[in-house]
Amino acid sequence: MIFVTGGAGFIGSNFVLDWIETVGEAVVNFDKLTYAGNLNNLAGLKQDARHRFVQGDICDTAQVAQLLADHKPRAIVHFAAESHVDRSISGPGAFVTTNVNGTFSLLEAARAYWSGLPEAERAEFRFLHVSTDEVYGTLGPDDAPFTETTAYAPNSPYSASKAASDHLVRAYHHTYGFPTLTTNCSNNYGPFHFPEKLIPLIITNARAGKPLPVYGDGQQIRDWLYVGDHCAAIRRVLADGKPGETYNIGGWNEMANLDVVHILCDILDDLDPKSANGGSGSYREQITFVKDRPGHDRRYAIDARKVQRELGWKPAETFESGIRKTVQWYLDHQEWVANVQSGDYLKWVEQNYDQRDMAGETT
Ligand code: NAD
Ligand code: TYD
Repeated sequence: MIFVTGGAGFIGSNFVLDWIETVGEAVVNFDKLTYAGNLNNLAGLKQDARHRFVQGDICDTAQVAQLLADHKPRAIVHFAAESHVDRSISGPGAFVTTNVNGTFSLLEAARAYWSGLPEAERAEFRFLHVSTDEVYGTLGPDDAPFTETTAYAPNSPYSASKAASDHLVRAYHHTYGFPTLTTNCSNNYGPFHFPEKLIPLIITNARAGKPLPVYGDGQQIRDWLYVGDHCAAIRRVLADGKPGETYNIGGWNEMANLDVVHILCDILDDLDPKSANGGSGSYREQITFVKDRPGHDRRYAIDARKVQRELGWKPAETFESGIRKTVQWYLDHQEWVANVQSGDYLKWVEQNYDQRDMAGETT
């Protein structure tokens, strides 16, 4: 079996569902269930004996050590993290606690477990650390995309905490020979994405008739990857990645935020026009430019040639097909949306957007 941390979050839950469907191997899913963790994401596995959920904190080395001893996983896939840049700006402490100290605690429990394994199992064991392209900092318009040798230059408390965790993972391989793999991936989108992030926020605000907040001039560029493609990349790296190596994962799909928002509005105009709900006009009319994020990185772009060359992975989904599927998923899962937009979510929206002046300029 494999041990997954953070498997109730956006990417982790997609990974666990995908893993059980495609690989069929048992999973112990260890998650603290912060505001971002949601057991409803895993409802499809309720009756499935191959999935065991355990609530807990990666900072609790003793609990993790006990679970590893009990379940004897052949691999750990580490997703658990605080993941939202805006939250890291208003409250960086939780990011250091979970992303840095938590990864350290997990590494300690995992290293002790791995050291005690019989030789054949020790040789096969893997620790896959899921990280982000944000550790590389920001690019100018004509800069080459990030490669695995680009120098780290994190700019937000989130990316700094992820960079620190990447360094610890690297050091554990270099110092102890611990068999680590690190993936640095670009922005994901798809089902179960918590609506504090751009794409699900725009879809859910649009349908609720609320402003669609675009930070600054909306010309910041992100490289978007469908979450199912990210899960497939992680499976490839786990199967055949070389211990100690890092792999950049990306969608070859750079887009300015404003273009993404326009596309979402156009798809919604098509799939769920305002006129069908008694309104009129386009969702584009709800776009509102608001105060920019402090230290906002201008451009991310991933050079994903290494993982293609060495492991044969490349994205299967185009942005056009993936984003349409995603909008349709949100339209079909309004109960899921209503569920996650609970009291805590409303508090966050108030805190993050009131100070940005949501009555700002509209298009
Ligand atoms: P998410 O915020 O949706 O989910 C994080 C999960 O981790 C939640 O289920 C949460 O309950 C759990 N968690 C948080 N703190 C924990 C702790 N101390 N102990 C145990 N569990 C804890 O995040 P996501 O978007 O699914 O991202 C997953 C991973 O992928 C993160 O490491 C993130 O840095 C990385 N990543 C995300 C993206 C993206 O676009 N979302 C891109 C590249 C890399
Ligand atoms: P986000 O989904 O938070 O991901 P990240 O910051 O990790 O890239 O944001 C994606 C981009 O969208 C980023 O440039 C910030 C921008 N953004 C907005 O313009 N408005 C919003 O309300 C949010 C949440 C993000």
